[in-house]
Amino acid sequence: MVKCFSLFVALSLLAVSAIGGDHFSGDGYGDSIIRQVVDDGGVNGGGSNGDDLLLGAEHHFSVFKQKFGKSYASKEEHDHRFRVFKANLRRAQRHQALDPSATHGVTQFSDLTPSEFRRLFLGLRGRRLGLPVDANKAPILPTDGLPTDFDWRDHGAVTEVKNQGSCGSCWSFSSTGALEGANFLSSGELVSLSEQQLVDCDHECDPEEKGSCDAGCSGGLMNSAFEYTLKAGGLMKEKDYPYTGTDRGACKFDKTKIAASVANFSVISLDEEQIAANLVKNGPLAIGINAVFMQTYIGGVSCPYICSKHLDHGVLLVGYGSAAYAPIRMKEKPYWIIKNSWGAKWGENGYYKLCRGRNICGVDSMVSTVAAVHITSN
Ligand SMILES: *[C@@H]1O[C@H](CO)[C@@H](O)[C@H](O)[C@H]1NC(C)=O
Repeated sequence: MVKCFSLFVALSLLAVSAIGGDHFSGDGYGDSIIRQVVDDGGVNGGGSNGDDLLLGAEHHFSVFKQKFGKSYASKEEHDHRFRVFKANLRRAQRHQALDPSATHGVTQFSDLTPSEFRRLFLGLRGRRLGLPVDANKAPILPTDGLPTDFDWRDHGAVTEVKNQGSCGSCWSFSSTGALEGANFLSSGELVSLSEQQLVDCDHECDPEEKGSCDAGCSGGLMNSAFEYTLKAGGLMKEKDYPYTGTDRGACKFDKTKIAASVANFSVISLDEEQIAANLVKNGPLAIGINAVFMQTYIGGVSCPYICSKHLDHGVLLVGYGSAAYAPIRMKEKPYWIIKNSWGAKWGENGYYKLCRGRNICGVDSMVSTVAAVHITSN
């Protein structure tokens, strides 16, 4: 069993960075030059090649174990995790070559295989055949006069970064984040809402495929969660129904403690201007993305040359920027600002920047907005 992230205390020590990253075809990754970036952001020593990286792997692994409080039950487990860690050093190197405007390296996920990572820390059910009966299509909004930079964190509509732990419940965090923002816009109050209610109580199914239902730590969909919330009457506060990170408990929803309710929810067309316009007008948006580059992400604007559009992670779009300096390609890139649910120690204080403009990693493909009913507090 993997420990919950909240136990992890520090950012990655090691960042792997490749130069000459434009040559990513075939298996030319071995040519990448690796720099070891230490805690204070300085560069420790000169470059070394991929073989040297693996020679130093034992050291990096012990630093990793210490940083992230990892311990393994047996020698076999330890040796297995070390092999996985080495494979992930190589992967971080490949990601760096494919995604030079971001920094990739060792993260708290570096001892997990890609499939363990997907199973334990994502949780968006990728197949979406139908939409819930109450889903609307978002009306087309005017897009002239949109700000060039916008961030809902600056307007008080975003709660602190949360942590899903080793539970595929990303979809519930994406959903609460959107409703927290909508509720803030309708009531003026920012209230943290309960993911655990969704994990325990929401079993809403895809109307076109009966077996595909929201299923706690085994995954779910944000639109289904909005449908559940609409039918149930609303969501309780985080503090009244706290997160446990397991889905073995019974539903403890108490209708008398509803803190936010859904008025309606809508899907937004695959159009980045419409996405931006809806974001600015309606608050943070629930979105699906492909998270493959997030396992090794340290910071910067992620803009991979190649990224699957298969959606496997639910997150919250909170803003956008017009340009960020990309150190390697010397280009300014417009980007989305995305709130993740892996704790504040992951990424940029819990956030991910993904470049804007060409549906990278499927970021435009599943975008929903929710409107809240105003509830007078008593
Ligand atoms: C959703 O609800 C909000 C707030 O009540 C309302 O202003 C908006 O027109 C509704 N949207 C749709 C698509 O029904």
